[in-house]
Amino acid sequence: MTEQPQSTASNGWRSWITAGRVLIIGLVGVIIVLGLILIITAVEEADKAAEGRERVDALANSDDSCVQCHRRTTPGIVQQYGFSTMAAANVACVDCHEVDSNYAGAVEHEGTYVLASPTTAMCETCHQKEVREFYASRHSIPAYVAMVGLEGISEDLLARYEAIPEAAVKPNEMRNSLHAIEGPAVTRFACESCHNIGKPAEDGSIGQCQKCHLRHEFSLEQVRKPETCNACHIGPDHPQWEIYVESPHGIAYHTGGEYWNWDAEAGTLTVEDFPAPTCAICHMSGFGSTGTTHDIGDRLTWYLFQPISERRPSWQDNLVRMQNVCLECHNTNFIEGFYADFDDLVGAINNWVEVSDEMIAPLKEQGLMSPEPFDEPIDFVYFELWHHWGRTAKFGASMQGPDYTQWHGAYEMLKELEELEELVNGKLSGEIPAVSPRVVNDGVASPPPLEEAPEEAEAPASE
Ligand code: HEC
Ligand code: HEC
Ligand code: HEC
Ligand code: HEC
Ligand code: HEC
Ligand code: HEC
Ligand code: HEC
Ligand code: HEC
Repeated sequence: MTEQPQSTASNGWRSWITAGRVLIIGLVGVIIVLGLILIITAVEEADKAAEGRERVDALANSDDSCVQCHRRTTPGIVQQYGFSTMAAANVACVDCHEVDSNYAGAVEHEGTYVLASPTTAMCETCHQKEVREFYASRHSIPAYVAMVGLEGISEDLLARYEAIPEAAVKPNEMRNSLHAIEGPAVTRFACESCHNIGKPAEDGSIGQCQKCHLRHEFSLEQVRKPETCNACHIGPDHPQWEIYVESPHGIAYHTGGEYWNWDAEAGTLTVEDFPAPTCAICHMSGFGSTGTTHDIGDRLTWYLFQPISERRPSWQDNLVRMQNVCLECHNTNFIEGFYADFDDLVGAINNWVEVSDEMIAPLKEQGLMSPEPFDEPIDFVYFELWHHWGRTAKFGASMQGPDYTQWHGAYEMLKELEELEELVNGKLSGEIPAVSPRVVNDGVASPPPLEEAPEEAEAPASE
């Protein structure tokens, strides 16, 4: 042992210091732990308070007879409605549901008459502005006509359809025919789920507000989030949701959206509430100097959904309204430059669709294409070229989705133009038959023709 222990004197003060240090460290530790506990409790309290503020059940002490019985029979509905601002404003179940006995669609219920599915007319008693704007939009009767065609509606509805300036564009018959070909067993779950947003009701009113405003909360937060629009604006022919997800605006939403002011009062929204836009902000919300609207066509310049896009009526005014939204966050040069480039892209895509029209023109002239839609491969190639890829390229460019403009858009168009050329040549040379009957008819699926049908298939299925 070469090292001698330190002198007792120094040992003394050193151990005092060590003891002191331990004490101080201990004390600091205790203070930190206590502090943390305090902070955690405070945060928990704040959370509870915040939750309490948002989740006040306005119906907790309600003695309304509908509420009391339905709390037992359909507790989910009462629970949801209790959290709505409408319940807090004393709007009752009967305000939306109760009608006279002779009202169209009325069902007798517990000594009164109710609508199982309240119509737009019910909302209109309190929300005239929203209903008026909705009626002027393509979300109302045009959305329904897009599916069933103009022949399927009454004269009154036709008049209302024709009164909508944005409905000047006639529905594309090729697509209506899919509704008829597939038949109700399928379309009930397909076209109708989306296009019933504009379905006429028995009482003469139009549309289903609840397609966006999920009942029974009718929450502003829910309806402002892009997932609401995602229910319909998705898929190969209108991938607005997918495009939004890959755009810088969508990235901002997905990475920071939880801090945005979702319940801000309508009409007064600013960049403080929303540092980047959702679908609703660009197309509907009051933002900057542009006012709130339920007319979703009010800020659009092109009919992008058309095979060959044309300008909309009063597109210059619409442009100003949309640009005033952009200009809350971007400068004028940036936005004008963006729009000039976007307009050029629309022109380029229009040209490619025109090329496809020219390619099939001789077949039409020579009667080498069947007049029936969707009964031969060439119909599908020609259709997808503009309906899927052409539109997707335009949507991608207008809403900052480069992958959709390129690989799900322009590239697919080039590929389909080549395929179309091959099919056209095949038809002109007689290699491909002029007409072959559709394999599936009128909503009754029949198996595609087999080379050699099995014996049993011939036997009648009666008994
Ligand atoms: C005594 C109980 C009771 C009362 C009071 C009551 N309901 Fe109901 N309600 C029911 C039951 C049970 C059903 C059926 C639920 C089911 O089918 O699962 C129902 C169904 C409904 C339906 C759907 C009808 C349909 O045809 O699909 C609506 C809408 C409705 N109630 C609204 C109301 C309104 C509004 C009031 C107040 C005026 C009210 N209810 C009062 C028990 C009640
Ligand atoms: C602001 C209007 C509004 C109010 C207020 C309202 N409802 Fe409804 N309710 C609707 C709408 C819209 C539908 C139809 C949903 C659909 O068809 O998709 C509906 C559907 C229903 C249904 C049938 C559908 C189902 O899911 O079973 C019942 C039952 C019902 N409501 C009960 C109530 C009760 C009870 C209250 C009060 C606690 C109430 N509603 C308040 C708008 C309202
Ligand atoms: C009896 C009148 C009345 C009827 C009927 C009515 N509402 Fe309301 N609604 C109100 C009132 C009042 C408010 C305002 C609540 C507030 O801002 O505090 C409101 C607010 C709303 C809001 C905004 C919610 C928010 O958090 O600011 C939506 C969305 C809404 N209603 C949709 C509907 C729909 C859809 C219908 C029809 C199915 C309907 N309302 C029927 C009176 C009504
Ligand atoms: C997932 C929801 C959804 C389904 C399913 C759906 N659509 Fe659509 N459809 C839309 C949306 C969203 C648009 C708007 C695209 C746009 O404006 O960019 C649209 C646009 C259209 C248009 C263009 C508008 C017009 O008047 O020319 C037609 C036609 C159409 N759909 C017909 C149909 C038919 C027929 C079916 C079924 C065979 C169908 N759709 C199935 C959501 C859907
Ligand atoms: C396409 C989806 C959509 C449809 C369909 C829709 N709304 Fe809305 N609604 C919204 C959005 C988004 C907002 C919030 C706008 C904002 O950010 O201020 C809203 C807000 C509202 C508000 C609150 C407005 C305010 O100034 O406080 C009312 C009331 C309302 N809607 C009623 C209706 C009625 C009635 C219908 C049916 C005619 C309807 N909505 C159909 C999307 C929709
Ligand atoms: C239930 C289905 C559905 C929902 C939900 C929905 N839409 Fe639509 N939307 C449609 C259909 C169908 C069309 C096509 C109507 C037509 O052109 O005939 C359409 C068309 C549009 C158009 C083009 C209108 C025009 O004049 O060409 C815009 C913009 C739009 N929707 C925005 C929105 C926004 C924003 C939301 C969410 C807040 C939303 N939509 C929610 C079904 C829906
Ligand atoms: C940054 C703003 C912005 C956002 C966010 C945005 N859009 Fe758009 N949207 C536009 C612009 C700009 C156009 C092209 C308008 C024109 O024709 O001038 C457009 C076009 C459309 C169209 C095509 C209408 C037609 O003519 O066929 C639909 C439908 C649509 N948007 C729906 C949506 C949906 C749904 C979302 C969210 C998933 C969304 N938009 C997000 C700005 C936006
Ligand atoms: C509420 C604010 C806000 C609004 C409104 C807004 N943007 Fe943006 N925008 C942003 C933010 C944030 C970014 C991401 C900035 C970055 O890339 O650093 C962005 C990025 C962009 C980009 C760059 C795209 C890229 O790939 O780099 C374009 C183009 C654009 N926005 C166009 C528009 C158009 C057109 C409108 C109106 C139709 C609009 N924005 C409305 C906030 C907004």
